[in-house]
Amino acid sequence: MKINKLLVGLLTSVTLVGGAAQAAELSMVSGDTGTGLAFLQSQLDRFEEQTGHTVTIVPMPSSTSDQFGQYRLWLAAGNQDIDVYQTDVIWAPQLADQFLDLTEAAADVVGAHFPSIIESQTVDGKLVALPAFTDAPALFYRTDLLEKHGKQVPTTWEEMTATAQEIMDAERAEGNAEMYGFVFQGNAYEGLTCNALEWVKSYGGGQVVEADGTISINNPQAAAAIDMAASWIGTISPEGNLAYQEEEARGVWQLGNAVFMRNWPYAYALSNSDDSAVKGKYDVAPLPAGTGEGAGSAATLGGWNVAVSKYSPDPEAAIELALFLASPEVQKERAIEQSNLPTIEALYSDADVLAASPFMADWLEIFQNAVPRPSAPTKANYNEVSSLFWSAVHNTLSGNGTAAENLELLEADLTDLKGDAW
Ligand code: GLC
Repeated sequence: MKINKLLVGLLTSVTLVGGAAQAAELSMVSGDTGTGLAFLQSQLDRFEEQTGHTVTIVPMPSSTSDQFGQYRLWLAAGNQDIDVYQTDVIWAPQLADQFLDLTEAAADVVGAHFPSIIESQTVDGKLVALPAFTDAPALFYRTDLLEKHGKQVPTTWEEMTATAQEIMDAERAEGNAEMYGFVFQGNAYEGLTCNALEWVKSYGGGQVVEADGTISINNPQAAAAIDMAASWIGTISPEGNLAYQEEEARGVWQLGNAVFMRNWPYAYALSNSDDSAVKGKYDVAPLPAGTGEGAGSAATLGGWNVAVSKYSPDPEAAIELALFLASPEVQKERAIEQSNLPTIEALYSDADVLAASPFMADWLEIFQNAVPRPSAPTKANYNEVSSLFWSAVHNTLSGNGTAAENLELLEADLTDLKGDAW
């Protein structure tokens, strides 16, 4: 006890000498994906050293949908135990009321970030979170297997499907019974919304709900896209893929048991770790394009931010932490160690970043053209919209109804939900 008090006293005086506010004990939540928590801890160690504050990480599941459910409850109850939240790009409109406005605190630094990302975190003029990293997915492919079987990197989903099937069959014939063609996020959660939005958009089938609020999902191109994905289950993708989130897909891939994988850039660095069976045997390409009118490659825009709870007992220190986690120094290390895409343009031409994650040179354009999920137009209803969408898609992938049938039902549900809400 005495020692603790002494320590606190010492730290306080240290930070006062440094001109900062009093030492605070902060808590922040973070989802647990890959080595993300270990990376965050290493950054927090530095923050603690620099400021004298202490930060405890409250680890959360990796599913963004599970995190959102928990955070919404905590915030609605005015929880004072969590000061800083790591927030998904889609949450800003729904949680805006619960977070502090960072406009003033971040006035000197917002200019360094891509304006579109700052805009995505601005709700009615309030800056509700600062960007930690942005996200746009890739088609991960096995360079060794494509070469061995004389195949090109596919640029359409049709090509991807055919190549995946051919290589999978040939590898199985050679005795690799565990080999699959393609793994992705097929579980009924936000990750499936991201995957399915890409299929739909790439077939020229729109964005589920358009920027002006129109419900557009019930159309033949969207149905064709989702039926195509349903055809993968039990052929090039395992039945178990219906339960995969990011980490399960990466698990199969990193054991060397998939020719292709759809995943976010975080899987790039991890795939190259010493315990990875695909180390040095893979590369990434833009996701394949659909076919038909308006078809093209489409990537869903993702990303994570840091927000300060308005119930934090130490708002000043919590804001310091948010600024730190969004800073160019932390973003650079993140880009190098975690292969997360920075939100600061200058880092896309940084030699150290490009040496560690060469794909980032091409991903600047890809994330800038990425498709946003309809969280801005559907406002407080986004989570419900997304869950209706992923359920319709999951039903189709599971063989419960055709895409056309499920999209017709979805349109009716979305129309009910919309009412006067958006
Ligand atoms: C990634 C994205 C996030 C998205 C999630 C879905 O974490 O950055 O925006 O919601 O995947 O699983």
